[in-house]
Amino acid sequence: MEFVSGVLHIGNVSAAEIASRFGTPVYVYDAAVIERQIANVKRAFADLPFRPFYAMKANSNISLLRLINENGFGCDAVSPGEIVLARHGGFEPDDIWFTCSNVSDDDLREIGDERIVINVNSMSEIDRCLALDLPNPIALRVNPDIGAGHHHDVVTAGEGVKFGIDLAEVESARIVVEDSGRKVVGLHAHIGSGVDTIAPLLESARRLLELSTSFSHLRWINFGGGIGVPYRPEEKEFPIDEYGRELTRIAGKLMRARDLTAILEPGRYIVAQSGTLVARVTAKRVSSGVEWIGCDTGFNHLVRPSKYGAYHHIVNASRGSGESLREGFREDRMAQGVIVSGNLCESSDVFTRDNNGSPLPRRLDPVALSDLIAFCDAGAYGFSMASHYNARLLPAEVMVQNGQTRQIRSRQKYDDLIRGME
Ligand SMILES: Cc1ncc(COP(=O)(O)O)c(C=O)c1O
Repeated sequence: MEFVSGVLHIGNVSAAEIASRFGTPVYVYDAAVIERQIANVKRAFADLPFRPFYAMKANSNISLLRLINENGFGCDAVSPGEIVLARHGGFEPDDIWFTCSNVSDDDLREIGDERIVINVNSMSEIDRCLALDLPNPIALRVNPDIGAGHHHDVVTAGEGVKFGIDLAEVESARIVVEDSGRKVVGLHAHIGSGVDTIAPLLESARRLLELSTSFSHLRWINFGGGIGVPYRPEEKEFPIDEYGRELTRIAGKLMRARDLTAILEPGRYIVAQSGTLVARVTAKRVSSGVEWIGCDTGFNHLVRPSKYGAYHHIVNASRGSGESLREGFREDRMAQGVIVSGNLCESSDVFTRDNNGSPLPRRLDPVALSDLIAFCDAGAYGFSMASHYNARLLPAEVMVQNGQTRQIRSRQKYDDLIRGME
């Protein structure tokens, strides 16, 4: 992203042009950024027997899925609906793992293809797969007793989380599967999301590698996703090459000796930085001496600030400066401290917050009514967590690729709101 004559450009296309063609609010994805992230993953783990997967919960737009699939990724799906989307995105059943989370019998039946690996989350899910006589390959999601993540609600391993077979139960799980005449073909752990250091990821990997020695039919060890990205100006890129080197050092020999393939299934790392939510400023007010701006989007479109107190860098996309971009942010050059809020009828609809989640003014380039503002790094857990709250419509999505812009999801219409209701 860059500014040209004060206007934000995403993949060399002006945000003003995108807004006038597709309206606001609109999610804009820069395909080149996704390709860059994909290349980083492939390079970092190239010395392992390795297959990259994409955790599609981060963003399941079919056009993004196609792009990621064409780049040789498999995918991790967590619901039958995600399997449907994955198939439309070009993923073959052999390239899909279905990671269960308290799934129903109907969910299990709807997997629909016996080549999809079922990654079970608990002993009871093993029992149900066996009772339903599902022929799919089985992998075990393990709780490696170490968790990490950008917020406690996205930590997915360790004590007190809903995921994974405890280490002490893994041997019983293996016996139950094998006694039924089936094979455990994969071991999996995913410790959390937005992990910013490699140490906990490697510790989890070590535990999976130790466990793997008791499994004689394994084909894959899936080390999960979780790789973080910088959101704040002061945050650094995740050291993905170091992660690749260290994982290769601890896992490479064993994986090769046993003809195992390592899987990693990042979501956020692949798509977060490609996405920008562009919205229009609809209101300005001063309250208790603090300036607020309002815009035509809300936490129904980008929930991370409200849900996790998460930071998204915000710039004035109509009249901004290069110094406002996260990479070269010069706070001292920014004129205005404003609180940025959305158009929902809810006090928590505030995008600029302090570490405790309270509204906090943010220094931006001066913002006027009708300016465009851009929420950066919104490609992961943005649209995929969007809702219809307040009967607001879901926004359009647009992809910029090789200087061309195309709509990859149309803006909803009011008819969409009432469909299916009586
Ligand atoms: C099983 C599993 N794998 C992968 C991911 C992707 O995580 P991230 O987007 O942080 O890479 C998640 C997200 O929570 C997950 O639950």
